Amino acid sequence: MANLSINIGGLELKNPIVVASGPLTSRIDRLKAAEDHGAAAVCLKHTLRKQQFIAKPRWYVERNIGIVVSGDPRLEIEEAVELVHKGKQSTDLKIIVNMSALPTDINTWGELAREFENAGADAIELNLNCPNLHSAQASGPTLGANLGQDPESVAKVIANVKNSINIPVIAKLPTEGGRILQVAKAAAEADVNILNIHAGFRAAPGLDIYNGGAFKYPGSSAGNFGGMSGPWSRLISNRFIADIAKMDLKPVMGGGGMSTWEHVVESIMYGALSVQICTAIMFEGFSLIEKILKGLSTYMEKMNYASIEDFHKLALKNVLGPHQMQYTEIAAFIDFEKCTGCRKCEKLPTCDAIAYIPDSKKCQVDPKCCVGCGLCVGICPFKAISIIEK
Ligand SMILES: Cc1cc2nc3c(=O)[nH]c(=O)nc-3n(C[C@H](O)[C@H](O)[C@H](O)COP(=O)(O)O)c2cc1C
Repeated sequence: MANLSINIGGLELKNPIVVASGPLTSRIDRLKAAEDHGAAAVCLKHTLRKQQFIAKPRWYVERNIGIVVSGDPRLEIEEAVELVHKGKQSTDLKIIVNMSALPTDINTWGELAREFENAGADAIELNLNCPNLHSAQASGPTLGANLGQDPESVAKVIANVKNSINIPVIAKLPTEGGRILQVAKAAAEADVNILNIHAGFRAAPGLDIYNGGAFKYPGSSAGNFGGMSGPWSRLISNRFIADIAKMDLKPVMGGGGMSTWEHVVESIMYGALSVQICTAIMFEGFSLIEKILKGLSTYMEKMNYASIEDFHKLALKNVLGPHQMQYTEIAAFIDFEKCTGCRKCEKLPTCDAIAYIPDSKKCQVDPKCCVGCGLCVGICPFKAISIIEK
């Protein structure tokens, strides 16, 4: 049986799966469900000492892209402390608290963190990423992704929290603003224990184009641009995870758009030691965690990986510049057994190599004309096309 356990920045996890901060982690029954389905840890819903405004859950959903979160109720300190107490009493989960305060209120960061440590929290995650707070506070004292883009403020916040508690501190970094590498460096220099990276930006919801461009948030025809989660972000998250893992600053926890065990393996190969998942579990239920763990374990046995460390960062050696790309002469090959003659590949406007053969009612590649771009492989509904060396 493969060993899925890890130690990430002093946090011992029985496996790499953490349920990310959000509506899945704001109630005790949901924490219990996370544990029942095998999660190692949960990161509680964002907590502030006092909410600036009470948000309601209003989400614009496109299944294959993700969720634009216009609002989601946060926790206040009393609720969150009680949730930590109950979580520690009734589960064996590692409990991470996602929290923030204003940068002008620097001591509140450490005070809140200490209250959570006293309540039994296993780690504190500093919310430096929330894209919604980016817009809400653009001109006043800054919160969320606005604060998280300023390396100096991030370093001050981390120093204050580190001085106040002994449990590991996680910095959830903002991808808004394009300064994530500088911020990661500042956070590491301030001795944060873990860097948490999810690609997240504010996005605009779909519109009712027959109704004056009304926003398609349920029940609200106008509103804010919300933070966007889900499948769209996975490959961008992997790029940020790899960029930061290559800097070798602190252990990386990664998330964004994952929904299968293969996604988890990729993220680990790019440099995450543990992963956070939210949207896919919201869509498919907590049982998804069990599926992922089973797939991960079977994969590790098949590959003879004794531990997560055996394939951690494995892909980083493959990250090269465009001028270093190595080219071999390749061409597409269509497996006649699988080809149904649907002709999707033949109609690709950038391809001169594929023709439909009426006699066989199949498509065929002329290797002399094939440039090896791989587009046909990606669009074939029947997985009938592969790449071979010329
Ligand atoms: C409805 C909703 C609420 C969220 N609330 C929080 C939050 O309170 N704090 C936070 O740091 N991230 C929050 N997130 C972001 C997730 O923790 C996660 O970083 C993001 O959704 C990307 O992962 P995913 O694609 O697996 O969902 C929220 C996401 C969703 C969909």
